[in-house]
Amino acid sequence: MALYLYSNIKTSCYNTSIMKHVTSIKQFLDKDLLTKLLDRAAEFQAMPASEYPGALAHMTFATLFYEPSTRTRLSFETAVQNLGAHIVSTESAGQFSSSVKGETLEDTIRIVANYTQGIIIRHPENNSAERAAAVSEVPIINAGSGANEHPTQALLDLYTIVRRHGNVDGLEIALVGDLAYGRTVHSLIHLLGLYKVAKVYFVSPDSLRMPDEYLTVLDDSGIAYEVLDNYEGILPKLDVVYMTRIQKERFPSLEAYDAVKDSFIFTLKDAQMMKADASILHPLPRVNEIATDVDEDPRAQYFQQARNGLFLRMALLEWIYS
Ligand code: CP
Repeated sequence: MALYLYSNIKTSCYNTSIMKHVTSIKQFLDKDLLTKLLDRAAEFQAMPASEYPGALAHMTFATLFYEPSTRTRLSFETAVQNLGAHIVSTESAGQFSSSVKGETLEDTIRIVANYTQGIIIRHPENNSAERAAAVSEVPIINAGSGANEHPTQALLDLYTIVRRHGNVDGLEIALVGDLAYGRTVHSLIHLLGLYKVAKVYFVSPDSLRMPDEYLTVLDDSGIAYEVLDNYEGILPKLDVVYMTRIQKERFPSLEAYDAVKDSFIFTLKDAQMMKADASILHPLPRVNEIATDVDEDPRAQYFQQARNGLFLRMALLEWIYS
């Protein structure tokens, strides 16, 4: 799919004639672009901080988060500053921005675009990033939109898998947990569809199955998959198990959440059934999905995964403004 580009807009703010919004992972279904981003992230990861380029020098970015975040927001804010830019923010946009007074998302974006060269936004609505991009005079970067998309998480997940396994081709990968509401797996599945993944297992309670539109991605790519309600029996053949949190905030009622919470708790015994070089991933935050004694197992890669996000986001920002 073509990159989501807007031309002729605010070209004076950085050294390009094309503005790049990042609203969807579907903009990144290009292996050459992905390789470029992953290679650059690896360069940043190997580079002393004193050698980071000032690719964003004299720019200012806004983080507008209408939902809580630790990793995405702080890694983006660090990435922006590592590349020489400043950050402005509102502590919790849903509580402390003028949205509380009834300002529309569109008006907020128009205003913030006056002060900045880029807006990093997380919002509970599925189409929020597209709404923002439609009115913004500066690049919009989607840091999570409802249950729909988390494109930069998918990029860092890919980066983590490639760093750990060398490639995605030939791997057997299980996505476990809340596959109905989990935006990270919804974005990741599009990237997996680009590669010759050996098999994908969708493991969830019946009520939290991966929606058909994402299964279709694998159908179209000719990738084998299986829908399961537990991971008993598949652990020894997996290269990657990707655990996810049950997304309490997306459920229609507390009763509905209580019925499925703690459906999966990955134990050290589970980890030890996997190959020695397998990876246990999780976008985090975890609640109970992975027992804490798994953290010391060498297969546990979720904290490294979160760290990788900083460098991937630096590479992405540099690319947007190149
Ligand atoms: N993975 C992720 O999006 O984490 P945060 O919610 O802490 O940003």
